[in-house]
Amino acid sequence: MDLTIRPRRLRGNAGIRALCRETRMSPDSLIYPIFVDETLQGTRHIDALDGQYQYGLDSVHLAVEDCLAAGVTKCILFGLPAKKDAIGSSAWDEHGVVQEAIRRIKAKYPDFYVITDVCMCEYTDHGHCGVLHDHDVDNDLTLEVLCKETLSHAMAGADMVAPSDMMDGRVAAMRKTLDDNGFENVPIMAYSAKYASAFYGPFRSAAGSCPSFGDRKSYQMDCHNRKEALRECALDVEEGADIIMVKPALSYLDVIRECSDAFDLPMCAYSVSGEYAMIRTAGQAGLIDEYKVMCESAVSIFRAGANILITYYAKELAQAMKKGD
Ligand code: PBG
Ligand code: ZN
Repeated sequence: MDLTIRPRRLRGNAGIRALCRETRMSPDSLIYPIFVDETLQGTRHIDALDGQYQYGLDSVHLAVEDCLAAGVTKCILFGLPAKKDAIGSSAWDEHGVVQEAIRRIKAKYPDFYVITDVCMCEYTDHGHCGVLHDHDVDNDLTLEVLCKETLSHAMAGADMVAPSDMMDGRVAAMRKTLDDNGFENVPIMAYSAKYASAFYGPFRSAAGSCPSFGDRKSYQMDCHNRKEALRECALDVEEGADIIMVKPALSYLDVIRECSDAFDLPMCAYSVSGEYAMIRTAGQAGLIDEYKVMCESAVSIFRAGANILITYYAKELAQAMKKGD
């Protein structure tokens, strides 16, 4: 055959494939979600997220030790408070669950990077991501409580805050609060294009944050929309976000690609609970190879343009990346 161009030349063995690989990943880019329950001592398996645990304040350091042993050096904290009310006031309690978890982690592992999820749904008795007015979340009232929560996280020692509420103007409001209080060096990672997604199901049982009525469609994005994601990212960039995020990841790879091309900020993707649960469960049912599908899915997210990945598989992926998988 008179074939001059043979792409297979670059696939012949592991050495040449490694040489020509386009997407290279590092454990440095991984963030592990940690759930801390104020009422818990020790750990509790999360049945909705097989292989994942909730931690009591007495044992949150164990989650960090497991991360460090695997090569993961960053986490995002989610809190399950002892008390909930209509406005979610335990979210900004100086001695609230997340605030105390930060202190415990930082006392033992000052270099472990602690990001906090800033939202109200874990703290409100109705489970919505803000303060209600009639039957909907009131945007501007919610900004006030989000700012209190943000400041309390920074005061407890959080390295970075990550608003996941999807209120308009929250990045600007949080930036101003942080700057006015001497926290101008605390970055904001904004959940910029966060879709109203059925893939959050397992998380809501893990975090106890299911809305008691209705859904989140009046604040989270409609999955049919693409241009709206660009607009949300643009607003967050203008308002002072340091990192933007697309969430979920696997069904939104097109959005990750487009937003990472359009903006020069680091791009985070959140591979959410339902994505993890699907791979995990199908793997355990013997239908797919869990390890290989985990690796391939993570590659697809980085190949789409993400630089940072939040995933329940962070520890396993860190090990896999070290092996070159
Ligand atoms: C809180 C929050 C949610 C997730 C992250 N932060 C749930 C929601 O918006 O209902 C989802 C994470 C996951 O599914 O893994 N607003
Ligand atoms: Zn929320």
